Amino acid sequence: GAIGPEPFMKSAEAVPVIPVVGLTTDPKLWVCFYQGTWVLATLVPGIVSIQRNFAPRRGDVVLASIPKSGTTWLKALAFATMARAAHPPADNPGHPLLRLNPHQCVPYMERMFAAGDEAVMDTLPSPRLMSTHLHHSILPTSITNNPDCKIIYICRDPKDMLVSFWHFVRRINADISFSDVFEAACNGTSVSGPIWDHLLGYWNASKASPETVLFLRYEEMLRDPAGNARKLARFVGQPFSPAEEEAGVVDQIVRLCSIDKLKSVEVNKGGSGTAGTHFANDWYFRKGGAGDWANHMTPDMARRLDAIVEEKLSGSGLSF
Ligand code: A3P
Repeated sequence: GAIGPEPFMKSAEAVPVIPVVGLTTDPKLWVCFYQGTWVLATLVPGIVSIQRNFAPRRGDVVLASIPKSGTTWLKALAFATMARAAHPPADNPGHPLLRLNPHQCVPYMERMFAAGDEAVMDTLPSPRLMSTHLHHSILPTSITNNPDCKIIYICRDPKDMLVSFWHFVRRINADISFSDVFEAACNGTSVSGPIWDHLLGYWNASKASPETVLFLRYEEMLRDPAGNARKLARFVGQPFSPAEEEAGVVDQIVRLCSIDKLKSVEVNKGGSGTAGTHFANDWYFRKGGAGDWANHMTPDMARRLDAIVEEKLSGSGLSF
């Protein structure tokens, strides 16, 4: 028989939007509960569009994280590593990371799809590099069930992540108190929350499928950036050759992507957001270490969050 038209949507499910009261009056920072996760309300149309329309390509690499876990660093490292043939990291004033913010080198999927700019992603040469803050559980299976699509996750001590997040959102609304940010995290309602579900989704996926999900830790990257860059390169199928090792390419990449180097780049000193957001480029580079939580949390607060996270992660093999 004749094949007639078909609806382009599979169903007419409504998207529930529940603004969180308290953290901020700024709608740009409202989060809503979407499929068991807390996401920025402004991005929900983009998330729905990713789930329906994302067209994977062989070799795609998705960088995943909770905001303030070291996304910018991972973007720089992954980009510098994967693009090193076209853009050698040493003595190269034309290197993209010396004229662009890392967020301009690696597109943020939710933002691209929310802005209707997903076609831009089709124009990227393979292998494509892109990023997301979504939980593993709500990524489309075109990513999570795809042996040709890899995920690199970065996580960080939730206490340092929260302190970093607070410093970041204070730029948007100076009235946001640390205790509001802290309570939201403990309740599971912070951006990309619940934090433990975000961590566990990628952790479990990396255990089940280590060849398609690489699980990195910010603190380990601080301790051994070169070792983690090598791990990343192997994982994406571009291991450093003996000749590259000999030439010091790994250290060149690590230096290029260090916070001090990136901070010194003109575009990253800029007070304006050039990566399609209203967040200024210099906001992404602050201290860049471990343990700053001790300057913002009482021992009681630290114990409380640690206990929640420990309990939620118990039995998984993941701990902080
Ligand atoms: P702090 O606020 O603790 O300094 P994200 O990139 O996910 O938004 O995370 C931002 C955090 O990563 C900030 O942490 C920032 O300073 C730190 N950071 C940014 N670039 C970095 C780099 N090249 N190396 C190490 N840390 C970096």
